[in-house]
Amino acid sequence: MNALPSAACLNTKQTPYYYYDTQLLHRTLDAIKRETDKHAHFEVHYALKANAHPQLLQQISQAGFGADCVSGGEITAALKAGFPANKIVFAGVGKRDDEIRLALQQHIFCFHVESLEELEVVNALAAQEQQVARVALRINPNVGAHTHAHITTGLSENKFGIPLTQMNTAIDACSRLEHITLIGLHFHIGSQITDMSDFVSECQRINELQTELNQHDIHLRYINVGGGLGVNYDDPDGGAIPDFQAYFDTFAQHLHYTKEQTIHFELGRSVVAQCGSLISKVLYIKEGEHKKFCIIDAGMTELLRPALYQAHHKIENRSSQGALETYDVVGPICESSDVMAQGVLLPSCHRGDILAIRSAGAYGESMASQYNGRPLVQGYLSNDFSLEERKI
Ligand code: LLP
Repeated sequence: MNALPSAACLNTKQTPYYYYDTQLLHRTLDAIKRETDKHAHFEVHYALKANAHPQLLQQISQAGFGADCVSGGEITAALKAGFPANKIVFAGVGKRDDEIRLALQQHIFCFHVESLEELEVVNALAAQEQQVARVALRINPNVGAHTHAHITTGLSENKFGIPLTQMNTAIDACSRLEHITLIGLHFHIGSQITDMSDFVSECQRINELQTELNQHDIHLRYINVGGGLGVNYDDPDGGAIPDFQAYFDTFAQHLHYTKEQTIHFELGRSVVAQCGSLISKVLYIKEGEHKKFCIIDAGMTELLRPALYQAHHKIENRSSQGALETYDVVGPICESSDVMAQGVLLPSCHRGDILAIRSAGAYGESMASQYNGRPLVQGYLSNDFSLEERKI
């Protein structure tokens, strides 16, 4: 089922813009809740970095999710959208002092600390605020993931997390520092992961570490396994809702935990990717020497993923059912890498046609830039289109 409105309806707003299908968002949130309800210890924190559109955030917070934030800006956005402070975690490899202070003053649930030096800083700032900060150590598990190199995070060559070899030193530091209390461990191996065996490897590494800690009589009440569940970019309609059952079952089966522990998941992409499309208009068709260029009014400023990760997004011509032709669909930005897709078959494109670039709900709007003097564009929810418009 394709839930996008007609081209005439989409054409009622100034392009380019993001279109978010709130019905699909709700079906996705319901699917996640259905699965997590089966496991008493599982809780999901939405990773705001995927998309922090205020209205989407409100709906996600109203559905009872927590928030995974990586900056003071995201913490502020989460609070504004109604996420309770005690369901907010603060991660990130380079937290500034003012951001740590903000998080302390707001009494967030937990800091995910990524280095020994950061532990000292959180401790010092918590002392100034006369608080004891809850921390989890983000451990770099040195587990690979079958995904693009730029979005792998759990290998020792990546900048993220405390190296496995320093974990015990960090735990000792936590017991020495009076203004922090260690409550858990945090992991994240990468993003756009569709091979469940990567998550099995993650579970195995966490199990090994927990066994080692238990032998030293260290029992942590909180394990955060990160996010990373991928979506189907080839078939955004057939794969509209990711296989949350397989994902959560993998952890239920392979992660060892006790009934005193809570297991947190930080899903971003799988929550919002499929509900969003980038809507763009064809400006020109240019006959190159060897190919045809379809030049559109959206570019890497609105969706960076194809340029940055050679990511594939399905493109549809919503205005035409004509004969198929092959195009390079390109944006207007002065960069050769500003290509949405190369050699795609589309119904014959003409100036003024409306294209939908699908699966753009995650890491689209949140990674937008103003390069080339372009203003940031709007994100509209499906219910921002009046009933009349929707009938067009
Ligand atoms: N937790 C941590 C610690 C993370 O670093 C990330 C993503 C997430 C959770 C959420 O991961 P997700 O469920 O969305 O895969 N811009 C890239 C993705 C970068 C992901 C960064 N970290 C892209 O467009 O593919």
